[in-house]
Amino acid sequence: EGDVFKYYSEGEWKKSASGKSVAIINPTTRKTQYKVQACTQEEVNKVMEVAKAAQKSWSKTPLWKRAELLHKAAAILKEHKAPIAECLVKEIAKPAKDAVTEVVRSGDLVSYTAEEGVRILGEGKFLVSDSFPGNERTKYCLTSKIPLGVILAIPPFNYPVNLAVSKIAPALIAGNSLVLKPPTQGAVACLHMVHCFHLAGFPKGLISCVTGKGSEIGDFLTMHPGVHCISFTGGDTGVAISKKAGMIPLQMELGGKDACIVLEDADLDLAAGSIVKGGFSYSGQRCTAVKVVLVMESVADTLVEKVNAKVAKLTVGPPEDDCDITPVVSESSANFIEGLVMDAKQKNATFCQQYKREGNLIWPLLLDNVRPDMRIAWEEPFGPVLPVIRINSVEEGIHHCNASNFGLQGCVFTKDINKAILISDAMETGTVQINSAPARGPDHFPFQGIKDSGIGSQGITNSINMMTKVKTTVINLP
Ligand code: G3P
Repeated sequence: EGDVFKYYSEGEWKKSASGKSVAIINPTTRKTQYKVQACTQEEVNKVMEVAKAAQKSWSKTPLWKRAELLHKAAAILKEHKAPIAECLVKEIAKPAKDAVTEVVRSGDLVSYTAEEGVRILGEGKFLVSDSFPGNERTKYCLTSKIPLGVILAIPPFNYPVNLAVSKIAPALIAGNSLVLKPPTQGAVACLHMVHCFHLAGFPKGLISCVTGKGSEIGDFLTMHPGVHCISFTGGDTGVAISKKAGMIPLQMELGGKDACIVLEDADLDLAAGSIVKGGFSYSGQRCTAVKVVLVMESVADTLVEKVNAKVAKLTVGPPEDDCDITPVVSESSANFIEGLVMDAKQKNATFCQQYKREGNLIWPLLLDNVRPDMRIAWEEPFGPVLPVIRINSVEEGIHHCNASNFGLQGCVFTKDINKAILISDAMETGTVQINSAPARGPDHFPFQGIKDSGIGSQGITNSINMMTKVKTTVINLP
C-alpha cells in the first residue's frame, strides 16, 4: 500500500502500525481518490506525549520568533497553492478557483494571526490595589497571557485548510502545541498544508496530524487527558463532544439555518444577488450559507423572479471546470438533501426549477411557498436547495428566525438603517449582516453562533485570546 498518505508525528511522516487505511472518495467520480493512514490509539498517545514536551520549550521561544515562523509557513502555503487546491478539487469537489482562494486566504490568515499575536500578547495590564474599598496602594498586580498547553483542532470538510489554520495559527502564536485531526474528505489537503508548516521549520512534535476513523480515534482524542482545549467546526458531533469533553475551554461552530429577511423597501437586485451567492456558493455547503429566505409577500413575486433569473445562469458540473454548482460531498449527503426536497414536494412547495440529480450532483433549486410544516423550513440541507417563506410582517420573519435551534448569522435587506438595527437586535444570532449575505470573513471579525450553532467566539483576535489564560503576579509592598 505505497499510495497511502502518511500521518505526521514527531516531525516525521509515518505509516500507522495498524496497517489499515481510510479511503477518500472523490465526490465527482465516486471512486477512491486517495488513502490515508488509520491511526491507532497508541499513536494518538504518542502524539499527545510529544505535543506536551514540545509545548514546554515553544512557550519559552520569543514571541517574535514564533511570529517569524508563522510568516514563513504562510509564504510556503501560498507557494503550494496549486497542489493543495488540486486536493480540494478532488477530495471535496470545491470549484477550482474557490479552492485556490481558500489556500491564499489561509496564508493571509496565518500572517495576520502572527501580527495580531505580536500586538495582543506583547502587552499585559498593571493594576493597583487602592481602587478596591479598604485597600492601600500596597499591591501591584501584573497580568500576562499564558498558553493553555495542547490544543486539539478538528476542522470540517468544507474548508479543510482554512478552518484548520484558523485554529493552528492562533494556537501556535500563543505558545501552545497543536494536534490536528482532519476530516476524512479533505485529509490530504490538510496533510499537504501541514507539510508547509513542516518546511517552515517548527520544532519537532509541536504540530502533529493524525488521520483515521472517527469511531477508532474520535472520542479517544476529544476525551484525552492530554488535551487542554478543543477547537471544533462541524456538525452534530460537536454537541456530543461538548458532553464528553473534560473541564477545558471549547470553541465550537456547528452549523446554522441563516435567515435572509427581505423587506418591502429593499434593493431587490442587491438582495437577489446576495441570496444566490449566499445560498448557492460551494453548492450551499457553508455553515454561513443563506438557508431560508423570509420575504414580504408584496415583493415576493419580484424577488423570486430575480433570483430565478440568476439561478438559471449558474453553471452545473465538475469542480475541475470551475462550475458554480458541483457534486455535494457524499452520497449520504445527496440522499439527505433529496429527502428534504421530496418532503417539500409532498407538502406542495412550489418548485421554481425541476429537481434534477445525477450521482452526487444536484442542480440548484429554489423552493417557493415553503411553510413551517416542511422539514426544509428548519433543517440544514448543506446543499444547493433554498426555501422561500413568504411573510406578512417583519415580526413573522423574526419569529421564524428565532424559532430555529440554530443561531449563527442572519441578514436583512432594507434601505431603512434604523429598522435594520432594530431587526438585528431582535434576531437571536451571533451576527446579523445588513444588506449583504452572511459570511465569516474578513477573518479578523468576531465569528460566533448562539444556541446549537456553537460555543465561544472565533475570528483571529478572539481565537488567540481563547487559547490563552490570564496569569497574574502580585507584588506586595511592605
Ligand atoms: O462553513 C464554515 C463557515 O466558517 C463559513 O465560512 O467564509 O464561507 O462564511 P465562510
